[in-house]
Amino acid sequence: MKIILLLFILATSIATSHGLDLDHGIDYNILPLRLKSGSGGHYIKGITCSSWRLGVEAHNIIDWKTIPQECEDYVGNYILGEQYRADSKAVISEAYLYAKSLNLTKDGKNIWVFDIDETSLSNLQYYANHGFGVEPFNATAFNEWVELGEAPALPESKKLYKKLLSLGIKIAFLTGRSESQRDITAKNLKDAGYYKYEKLVVKDTVKYKGKTAVTYKSAEREKLEQEGYRIIGNIGDQWSDILGTNTGNRTFKLPDPLYYIA
Ligand SMILES: *[C@@H]1O[C@H](CO)[C@@H](O)[C@H](O)[C@H]1NC(C)=O
Ligand SMILES: *[C@@H]1O[C@H](CO)[C@@H](O)[C@H](O)[C@H]1NC(C)=O
Ligand SMILES: *[C@@H]1O[C@H](CO)[C@@H](O)[C@H](O)[C@H]1NC(C)=O
Ligand SMILES: [Mg+2]
Repeated sequence: MKIILLLFILATSIATSHGLDLDHGIDYNILPLRLKSGSGGHYIKGITCSSWRLGVEAHNIIDWKTIPQECEDYVGNYILGEQYRADSKAVISEAYLYAKSLNLTKDGKNIWVFDIDETSLSNLQYYANHGFGVEPFNATAFNEWVELGEAPALPESKKLYKKLLSLGIKIAFLTGRSESQRDITAKNLKDAGYYKYEKLVVKDTVKYKGKTAVTYKSAEREKLEQEGYRIIGNIGDQWSDILGTNTGNRTFKLPDPLYYIA
């Protein structure tokens, strides 16, 4: 009896000390677990960096300019560690299962739209050299990196690319890179193993001057459909790759906590 009473008192005191007390802002954890360091436990404006990243991926946090300074290490660890690859793999796996399930008309008109930067090719080397989120984006320096044509393929995306080809689905690259970067981009794609594709759509910077990526990409996808292609899938790392019109039958969003393009 004494033991039962003691256990009751103990249980009550644990429940009280760890109870959800959101009104007083004392306990944010649903379960009384302590965050391990490195698991997203840095706080910015009352949220952790992992919550910030989730907000970014879910498109709840939009129009952000740089990674919050407090989350620079967190994002660096995420992107250079195993989780970025694992998250990408989860996306690619769903995309492949979907593609494989389709019973497509074999008329050569089924296409899958791939974005390029941080979808097909990785600019991680550039960001690793320049720091994750410390300095504001420097277009001159970034274009110098693009001109090197040395961006490697994102391994999971390349797997999807190959599997789609084997299913008889054609590939259209649709990128915010400009017409002046077409040749180096084509060479970079080829060197990275993307040797076969139907289209490489680059941005006409005069026509789309001042327009958002959503507007540009929607218009170019519409053109593809007018040419008779059926966009059965569409994959990108930015929401602006998959929002707008003519988005395709299904869209897939790869992780990218490095930058935001409207
Ligand atoms: C696939 O499509 C073809 C032609 O539209 C149809 O004849 C066939 O029954 C379909 N197969 C399956 C498994 O749905
Ligand atoms: C941007 O990059 C260019 C080329 O590397 C460099 O010359 C320039 O100083 C940089 N600008 C800023 C503001 O850091
Ligand atoms: C794609 O969507 C269109 C329009 O809703 C539909 O007619 C078509 O069957 C869909 N194709 C696939 C492969 O799901
Ligand atoms: Mg991209």
